[in-house]
Amino acid sequence: MRRSQSFVRWAAWLCAALVVAAPLAYQWLFPVPTHYASDVEHFKYGSIGVEAAQGVPYEVWRTLPGLCLPLSERAGGYSKFGFQWELGHDTPVGMPVETALVPRIGVNCAMCHVGRIEGPDGVSQLVVGAPNTSLNLQAYLRFLFSCVGSDRFTADAVLAENARLGDGLNAVQRLFYRSLIIPQMKTAIATQAREMAFMDSQPDWGPGRAPGFQPAKIQVLGMPFDGTLDIVDIPSLWAMESHDGKGLHWDGANTSLHEVFLSSGIGNGASASTIDLPSLARNEAWARKVPPPAYPWPIDKAQAQVGKAIYAAYCASCHDTGGNRAGQVIPLRMVGTDRNRVDAFTPETAQGFDDLPDYSWRYTGFRKTGGYVAVPLDGIWARAPYLHNGSVPTLAALLTPPSSRPAHFLRGSPRYDPVDVGFAGNTGAEFDTSQPGNAATGHDWGTDLSEPEKRQLIEYLKTL
Ligand code: HEC
Ligand code: HEC
Repeated sequence: MRRSQSFVRWAAWLCAALVVAAPLAYQWLFPVPTHYASDVEHFKYGSIGVEAAQGVPYEVWRTLPGLCLPLSERAGGYSKFGFQWELGHDTPVGMPVETALVPRIGVNCAMCHVGRIEGPDGVSQLVVGAPNTSLNLQAYLRFLFSCVGSDRFTADAVLAENARLGDGLNAVQRLFYRSLIIPQMKTAIATQAREMAFMDSQPDWGPGRAPGFQPAKIQVLGMPFDGTLDIVDIPSLWAMESHDGKGLHWDGANTSLHEVFLSSGIGNGASASTIDLPSLARNEAWARKVPPPAYPWPIDKAQAQVGKAIYAAYCASCHDTGGNRAGQVIPLRMVGTDRNRVDAFTPETAQGFDDLPDYSWRYTGFRKTGGYVAVPLDGIWARAPYLHNGSVPTLAALLTPPSSRPAHFLRGSPRYDPVDVGFAGNTGAEFDTSQPGNAATGHDWGTDLSEPEKRQLIEYLKTL
């Protein structure tokens, strides 16, 4: 009798423990992402399933500026890396926090595909779908790798800083972070630093640029670093319907928008089991339709009207949706721009993607090309600096013969220049066109127009 009573008591305890633990365990194993009612908010802040696979424990992340930034920069925290930040949010645009065992901060498409433009009057606006030209992702990664890899990163120091910041961890959580989460994070970041070590043998990315495929080649395809260089400008992400079935990525490495969405999700850290396919599908449906941003300042309509005819004669065959080469890959020998990015996407890379068996889908669309895509020019005013490597600061500079384009300019400031159309380049990091991968050569169409014709063409390009 006594034995069965104790069994009942024991079973009751077990049931009670399960009732408490099961939802917690379920939440750890199958985190429910935050739902956003609007598609734009979802694009900016919704998870695409990176956090459980690659997310950085949020309670530790927020201590790193205090641990490792020089005193003078601590108040600004992460803002020095050029993330876009909106009032009322604890994390930047494109960095969602989701719980997988603990709250983790991850990445989504908006970290790179939402930019900011500041008018000559100093008023700035977020432009959703525009490249984030101020984001210095490489500087952020270097900070993360060096801080977490340094002697300053100890459980004692992290927990002390977390307590100092307030609203942080309770006593039980601190034990858990000390014994498991902090050591785990140190190992994970060290692995990532090793995988990204190739970047220290190449020119700096600078703001608004990132390697196109090199990290995915190493981290997803498991290829060794092959010495190629593919640092590119971030492209815009709007009206994507018109790109589908044509050349996607700067070299046209794929033609299926859906495959590019899937590979971008994986390339940015989601895994086969964590990738949030409905979330990506929602972003894809939105990006197919969202219109390019309208030029926000006055346009001289009469000049633009004359420019329209110049565009039709010199540019439309490649850049107009109806043009016979629009969205097609233009061979390198014809476009003449820097060849590094084309060469970096090797036949083995294309094959590697097509051979990947690990997902609920198979890639079929990756291919090796020999040039760059003649991209649609919609919203082109908001896509400076220009060309695949971002080597030309303004439209006026693009219409200048390559040998006379600026050899050095500053990238990263959002201040806009409505005359030459591009960023004013009054502050930021120096871009040096003599560095490997940075050549501002080629694309000399329109460079022989007269000065007034160029101004008319630029006025028309503002309307696209
Ligand atoms: C770290 C910055 C970064 C993040 C995050 C990012 N992208 Fe991109 N995206 C790029 C860059 C750089 C390219 C150009 C790569 C190339 O062609 O070499 C690109 C290219 C693209 C293209 C091709 C555009 C065109 O016109 O050919 C699409 C589509 C795209 N990204 C979608 C996404 C989606 C969807 C996500 C989120 C799952 C995402 N990106 C996340 C930087 C980023
Ligand atoms: C024969 C085809 C062809 C013609 C004609 C042509 N382009 Fe291009 N254009 C391209 C290609 C290819 C690229 C991509 C080159 C690269 O990124 O290396 C490009 C890129 C551009 C870009 C940069 C896009 C970006 O997102 O950075 C602009 C702006 C542009 N062209 C404007 C023009 C204008 C204006 C004319 C007419 C005066 C013109 N193009 C004529 C093929 C052409």
